Amino acid sequence: MKYAHIVGWGSYLPTRVLTNDEIARTVDTSDEWIYSRTGIRERRIAGSRETTATLAFEAAARALAVADMHPSQVELIIVATSTPEYIFPSTACRVQDYLGASRAGAFDLSAACSGFVYALSMAAQALATESVRNAVVIGAETMSRVLDWNDRGTCILFGDGAGAVVLKGSSIPGGVLASTLRSDGSGGELLSLPAVYHNPIPVLGPEYLYPNGHKKNTIAMDGRQIFRFATHVLADVVEDALGKAGLTIDDVALIVPHQANSRIIEASAKKLKVSSDLFYMNVDRAGNTSAASIPIALCDAVQEGRLKPDDNVVFVGFGGGLTWAASVVKWDVTPPHVPLLDREWKRARYIAARGRSKLRRIGRRVSSRLLGSPTPDAPLREAPRK
Ligand code: UT7
Repeated sequence: MKYAHIVGWGSYLPTRVLTNDEIARTVDTSDEWIYSRTGIRERRIAGSRETTATLAFEAAARALAVADMHPSQVELIIVATSTPEYIFPSTACRVQDYLGASRAGAFDLSAACSGFVYALSMAAQALATESVRNAVVIGAETMSRVLDWNDRGTCILFGDGAGAVVLKGSSIPGGVLASTLRSDGSGGELLSLPAVYHNPIPVLGPEYLYPNGHKKNTIAMDGRQIFRFATHVLADVVEDALGKAGLTIDDVALIVPHQANSRIIEASAKKLKVSSDLFYMNVDRAGNTSAASIPIALCDAVQEGRLKPDDNVVFVGFGGGLTWAASVVKWDVTPPHVPLLDREWKRARYIAARGRSKLRRIGRRVSSRLLGSPTPDAPLREAPRK
């Protein structure tokens, strides 16, 4: 039995800042309304050459540099995302390729804004059973690509970004102590994002056009209901996970919640009978980055010195599905000291490794041209007659 310790962390936000005032130029809203109702001042928007996978890669490269681990040592990559570029190949496979993590298994996990906590819990279990020795867990989103920018109820909320942690198995007790995962599919339509496979089949007639009724691939949300749901479940799931870890709220140094709305946090703090200062918030500058919000907030909290060795920290997420989840983590393994210059040099090397992936692609194309069909002389089989 091993314990899954967080030994590296990293985040990446695109450089383009989109302020509330800028949004107010295109929809009927204002900075005053957005800030007072959500706590959001600005969010980041991915550039035209950026994708969920490139943001995820940047965050993972930073996290591996902190952990002082080479990508070839990585055994598992999980990307929690609702905005993959492709259903397959998964975003995790693209990150694996970009990193040159040649010995890693890789898959995406879909649990909306709870995705990072779900993925952390899955990775911790894989480490506990020793099926892998380490894992990179990433939350990454390009929410700007799935928003209806005419819908003021949603377009003001979300932003783009990625955050990652590196987990390492150790026989020293600690790390991810306990998790609680929950879901309620009956509330699915309260927050939804249609997939892309609503391809009409004209030859089969009108009933085969858009079978599930969706007309566009953008987020639809019943904000009030989601607000109620979030304030209802957040405190309960934190207490449940703490109970499993044998702890109480008094043992907690910091709660890093999904960054959706500062009012949800204030209501949940009241329910838990703690000060809202116990919750780390960066929603003002990053907006709601869905599955990426918790690891991005964690990195900011570490940067601001809000966590010290032996602190108990709780991650708590909630969102579409409906899903909600909490993990209790002992922040206890100090990562190896890697001087800043060395860390940046390592990160640059990981980024250079992306070149390898391009070369491999070219190599595949060339060999396919040169070698032709793998079974050129195989006789064609006749299709069986009906
Ligand atoms: O990560 C996934 C989880 N998502 C969430 O956690 C989101 C949860 N929900 C929320 O954060 C809030 O419900 C919102 C921020 C989305 C909305 O805030 P609210 O306080 O619940 O507003 P509301 O929907 O009750 O609307 C109040 C009023 C309405 O006008 P009337 O009917 O009172 O005249 C809305 O039309 O505010 C209006 N409104 C706006 N006004 C200016 C709604 N959106 C806007 C807007 N700017 N952007």
